[in-house]
Amino acid sequence: MKNVVVLGSTGSIGRNTLSVLSDFADRFKVFGFSTNTNTDLLQKQIQRFQPQMVAITDRKGFEAFQKTDETEILFGIAGLKKLCSEPEVDLVINALVGSVGLLPSFEAVESGKDLAIANKETLVIAGGLLIRKAKEKNVRILPIDSEHSAILQCLLTGKKEEVRRLILTASGGPFLDRKKEDLKNIKVKEALSHPTWEMGKKITVDSATLMNKGLEVIEAHWLFDMPADKIRILIHPQSIIHSMVEFVDGSLIAQMSVPDMKIPIQYALFCPERLPTNNRPLDLTQVKNLTFEEPDQEKFPCLEICYQALEMGGTAPAVLNAANELAVKAFLEEKISFVDICEIVTATLKHHQVMENPSLDDILNADKWSRQEAERIINSRSEVGM
Ligand SMILES: NC(=O)c1ccc[n+]([C@@H]2O[C@H](COP(=O)([O-])OP(=O)(O)OC[C@H]3O[C@@H](n4cnc5c(N)ncnc54)[C@H](OP(=O)(O)O)[C@@H]3O)[C@@H](O)[C@H]2O)c1
Repeated sequence: MKNVVVLGSTGSIGRNTLSVLSDFADRFKVFGFSTNTNTDLLQKQIQRFQPQMVAITDRKGFEAFQKTDETEILFGIAGLKKLCSEPEVDLVINALVGSVGLLPSFEAVESGKDLAIANKETLVIAGGLLIRKAKEKNVRILPIDSEHSAILQCLLTGKKEEVRRLILTASGGPFLDRKKEDLKNIKVKEALSHPTWEMGKKITVDSATLMNKGLEVIEAHWLFDMPADKIRILIHPQSIIHSMVEFVDGSLIAQMSVPDMKIPIQYALFCPERLPTNNRPLDLTQVKNLTFEEPDQEKFPCLEICYQALEMGGTAPAVLNAANELAVKAFLEEKISFVDICEIVTATLKHHQVMENPSLDDILNADKWSRQEAERIINSRSEVGM
């Protein structure tokens, strides 16, 4: 029986994770979980799973929460870190969104816990440091992102030196067939309707700009120790092939399933073991077409900017990520247009003086600087009426 903590249990990945964990209640005990603001759902999850402790990061939500004797209620980032470091905990699942996931991820690894990670921002910002720390502590970092789960599975069929390249598939998001000139008038509601996946708002917007795929390139670079020029992106609108590995003998190994995040979540929990479940199997006779195309880099410049940030190295990916988080928030608040997102990220990155071999503190400072710079750019653009 493993004791598991789910950070961000009220989100899309968090809810799916609790559902998978309840299918395997004989193998896992839900020790704790967390929310930011959704304390109503947290209350229901407490009743259902009776955890030892939970964390609430939003102050108002924490102060208003009805406490009981059975479950300890923790507050803030310190609460998330405590959840990750309790001696009884075996596995931490990080399903937080954004750079808030960074410190809890490090706390989990530092405390010797295996870490199953959906929070790609941690790997984008500080993947090198995290992987190094995980090796030092002899703990596993297990991807939950469906693309990286697919790559992990495909890599089991060969040796690392036999890999020619990793191929990350992308649905292409809701604007795959829109003209470039139409993108500036995209409404928030349109950007939030993803054709194949149901996800939180931030990743849904990232999927529409294709920033998500660029972030996944950086994530793959760190997880699989693969240079950027060996990581390719292919648009595959049906989201059936979740990613592929091309080997030097010309073999292409792909992992396929219906698009359902419960499948990669379960794989992260048991990897490399496979257990029977009620997940819907893929019926290939029902899949009419599997199509592939090159991404349109001009229409979706976020892809290129992610490759550039990876190439720049050091603090650049942290700056890219923070500027993107801020720009996506501004887009969701209707302060900027859809195409402004990438322009703001690009301008912020351009103004950044990269620091090589940064420490965790340097990365946190770069994240802070980037948010201020992106905010300044957003404000200056609205002043001149852009
Ligand atoms: N959704 C997917 O299918 C999918 C697939 C692959 C990878 N991912 C990655 O998984 C991560 C989570 O995505 P998601 O779609 O599950 O996001 P989501 O639905 O927005 O859920 C995010 C979770 O994090 C919590 N949270 C948000 N802001 C926080 C803060 N400032 N402090 C502490 N907790 C905070 C949320 O609490 P509240 O409920 O109170 O807001 C919620 O529990 C992201 O990194 C995403 O890129 C997601």
